[in-house]
Formats: sequence, structure tokens, C-alpha cells
Amino acid sequence: MAQQDDVFKKIVSHAKEYGFVFPSSEIYDGLSAVYDYGQNGVELKNNIKRYWWDAMTLLHENIVGIDSAIFMHPTIWKASGHVDAFNDPLIDNRDSKKRYRADVLIEDHLAKFDEKIDKETAKAAKRFGEAFDREQFLATSPRVAEIKAKRDALHERFAKAMNDSNLEELRQIIIDQEIVCPISGTRNWTEVRQFNLMFRTEMGSTADGAMSVYLRPETAQGIFVNYLNVQKTGRMRIPFGIAQIGKAFRNEIVARQFIFRMREFEQMEMQFFVRPGEELKWFAQWKEWRLRWHKALGLGDDKYRYHDHDKLAHYANAATDIEFLMPFGFKEVEGIHSRTDFDLSQHEKFSGKKIQYFDPELNQSYTPYVIETSIGVDRMFLSVLCSSYEEEQLENGETRVVLHLPAPLAPVKCAVLPLVRKDGLPEKAREIVDELKFDFATHYEEKDAIGKRYRRQDAIGTPFCITVDHQTLEDNTVTLRERDSMAQTRVPVDSLHALIHDRVSLAALLRKLR
Ligand code: GAP
Repeated sequence: MAQQDDVFKKIVSHAKEYGFVFPSSEIYDGLSAVYDYGQNGVELKNNIKRYWWDAMTLLHENIVGIDSAIFMHPTIWKASGHVDAFNDPLIDNRDSKKRYRADVLIEDHLAKFDEKIDKETAKAAKRFGEAFDREQFLATSPRVAEIKAKRDALHERFAKAMNDSNLEELRQIIIDQEIVCPISGTRNWTEVRQFNLMFRTEMGSTADGAMSVYLRPETAQGIFVNYLNVQKTGRMRIPFGIAQIGKAFRNEIVARQFIFRMREFEQMEMQFFVRPGEELKWFAQWKEWRLRWHKALGLGDDKYRYHDHDKLAHYANAATDIEFLMPFGFKEVEGIHSRTDFDLSQHEKFSGKKIQYFDPELNQSYTPYVIETSIGVDRMFLSVLCSSYEEEQLENGETRVVLHLPAPLAPVKCAVLPLVRKDGLPEKAREIVDELKFDFATHYEEKDAIGKRYRRQDAIGTPFCITVDHQTLEDNTVTLRERDSMAQTRVPVDSLHALIHDRVSLAALLRKLR
């Protein structure tokens, strides 16, 4: 675990050093859980968004996009349930004055039981050596059984308290389990209170009677309230989907793990409107399509898993997360939810407007059911970054830090490097840049030794380096260096475009989804 923590720290500092992610307002000592994307980060992020957007809107004739405003009528959040129920249970430690999410304190405590089981297993493996059978040990060890029983009992009690929104019981669990504040080390806890995660602000001048509005905590509601507009103007027939990418804001109590949990983040959400009764078929279909979208990137199939929800929100009849193996464990990157007709019905009720679909095939009107796919851009960015980062030991004893980014997502696709800064090589290199730059993000670099320049491009994940040398002036060929293998081949300048396109084109990636 400590080793994984170390790797994660290195990834965070690499992200800063190479212009991917900066802490927000850094010269003013930063702003907690808010981050800025730098010159390479914004390109990687845009490429992720483009991959998602094109997969939704180009590959599905029945999905269209919108871009709704962040500010919306405040009643929307009443209708959606966010005003009353978008809460986290918080608790303060009186000594450290630190605030925690009560559920997270308990979840972290539950994780300690698993750590204990891991320790027992490691001890036994050492004792039995080669003959050790892990499965058998876990099934038969009385000590493991004892720890598991305690964990399961606690988990059941915790799940019930969360289900019943029983704040006193949550506090009691913290007391009974003797959970201490990680800062003060004491158990001097306040009561548990509900904390609404929405940011509120005022719209209009106070003299006119300002209205309280919220920064949207999800983009989905912008889609629901535009359902009729899109369906009518686009003459959409069910089943159809509406996709949107945009900022969302949550006043997270515990914001941690870098860009994993932020207060301002970006979502890519798609609401798919279907006939009532067909929602579970479409839910299964979207589960499969979305996992295929992730896996096509080639980050490693074993790094994904579904986490089906046992506990469903009152409006959902199925929900699953796609989890990705981050350096700090399997974590949710995307949620797929079968939200029934809850949202459209609520907006119908609160707005007084009829929100129905007339189905010409069934010759009847109904409120469509909805399958939602909701993925955080920043979490997707983090999964790509973490799985691409490698400190590679080279045969010559050196270490190179390389980002094995999927080529279509890489911020820079190729770098053109004149071997020396004289003899007409820079001019020739510029000529090549001028040809390639219309189709590919192309860097030109002439400073430092060629090896150093290669390393800089490796560190930002550039798939190709093109080196221009004296031979180039004679036969119009260059050296093409591939990032992952570091293989160098001599190729004609005229073939560069096709060679690069083959590897970096988003279309090739999208074709894998067919
Ligand atoms: N409309 C449904 C919805 O918003 P969610 O599970 O609350 O569902 C969807 O959020 C996705 O948004 C998550 O899977 C995650 O990727 C991302 N997300 C949620 N909260 C986040 C936060 N504080 N920071 C970064 N990403 C977040």
C-alpha cells in the first residue's frame, strides 16, 4: 500500500511538472479540491471528451447533444430531490476542529478489517512457503472467520443506518468502534448532521428581491428539462438519447485523492429515453456498450469491474458502477442507472407542463423511462494518467519516465526534432511541421541533446518523434521513433502523414466499438 501511495504521489507531481494539472490559485496557496488543467492536461481532457462525444453522437443515429446552462430555475432542484436529499452526513472532531463524512470514517474503518485479513494471509503464506493455498486458508482459518464475522456485522449495521438516514446510529457506530480523529487522535465527536452538497448563490440584485439559485450538482437535469424541446425540434422517436458534457459543482465535505473528488468537476452524461417495460433490456445493453468504450482504450481489461448496487435510490430499479483500478484501489469512474420515469414525472408535477411521448407504434402516450450513463471527465483523466505512467528501467541502467497514453488521446501526436541547430536542419524540420500541423498536434523542439528531447516527449506521452538529420537533406528521409518500444526506423518524409494517422486517429479507436 505504501508503495502504491508513493507511485500516486509521483503521478501527482509528474502531472504538475509536465503541465497536466495544477492546484488552483496556487500562488495564493491553493483552493482545496479545485484544480486547473495545464497546456498538456487540457489537450488530453479535450481528447477524452471528443472520444466520448463522438462515440455517443456519431456512432448512434438516435443520440444528439445539447449544452444547457449551469444556472437553472431553483425549482428544478426541488423537483429532482436535490434540495431535500442531496446530503452527506458530517461530523466534527472538537479537538482538531476537522470535519469528516461520518459514512467515510466508518467505511475507512471497515477497510481495516480487510487489511487485517490480508496481514493474516501474508503471515500464513510466509509460514507455509510453497505449500500455501490462499483460497483454502481464507476458507478455513478461524482467525479470518472471526475478523470476517465482525466486519459483516458492522457492515450490516452501517448499511441499515445509512438506509434509514439514522444519524444518531451513525454516531453511535463511530463511538462503539472507537474510531479516532486521524489528526487529534481523540474520540471527542460532535453530533452527526446532514449537509447539503449544493452550492447556492444569489441571482439578481437584492433590491429587486434576489433569487437563490444553485450551481448544478449534475448535468443530467439540464437534459431532462430540455427533453420536450429536443424531442419535438429533432423529431426524435423513442428510443433516443441526449448527451451533454459540462461542469458540475458539489461542496464535498471530504475532498481527497487529487482530481478524484473535486468541488468543481466535469461530467459526460447521456440520458436514453425508452418505452416503459423495456428499461432493463436497455440497461443491460448500455452496461455492455460503456464497458466496451473503456476497454477499447487498451489500458488493461483486468483494471475494470462492475459494481452492481444492492442499495438503490428510491427512483431507480437498477444501478451499476464501472470501477477502475486506481493506485488507491478499485474506484467508481462511471455510473449507469435505470432511473425509471422519476425525473420526467417530477418535472411534469412541479412545472405543471405535460411531458409525455406519443408512441405512434403503440398508439399511446406515456412518460418515457430513462437509462442514464454518467462519467466524470476528471476521473477518466485520472484513470488514463495513472495507468499510463511508468518508470521504466532501461538496459543501460537508466530510468525513463514515460506516459503510455493511448495515442488518440495524447496531447501531442508528434515532435519534429532537428538533430543540430544548423546546416539547414531547422528549416527542413519546420517544413515538415508545416505539413503535419493541420492534422496532428505537432511540436517543434531544437534545444538540448536529442536524447533529452526524446525523454521530454516520453514524459508527456508523445507517440512519435521525427528526427531530421543531414541525410534528410540528401534523400528526404527521417528517423521515426516510436514512444513505447523506442524503435527507430528510417522512413520517407512523404510517408509520415499516413504512418502517424494510422496510430493516432480517433476514427480507428471508434471503429473498435462497432
Ligand atoms: N447524474 C448522475 C450522477 O451525477 P454520480 O454518481 O453522482 O451520478 C456521476 O456522478 C459521475 O460523476 C461519477 O461516476 C464520477 O465519475 C463523477 N463525479 C461525481 N462526483 C465527483 C467529484 N466530486 N469529483 C469528480 N468527479 C465526480
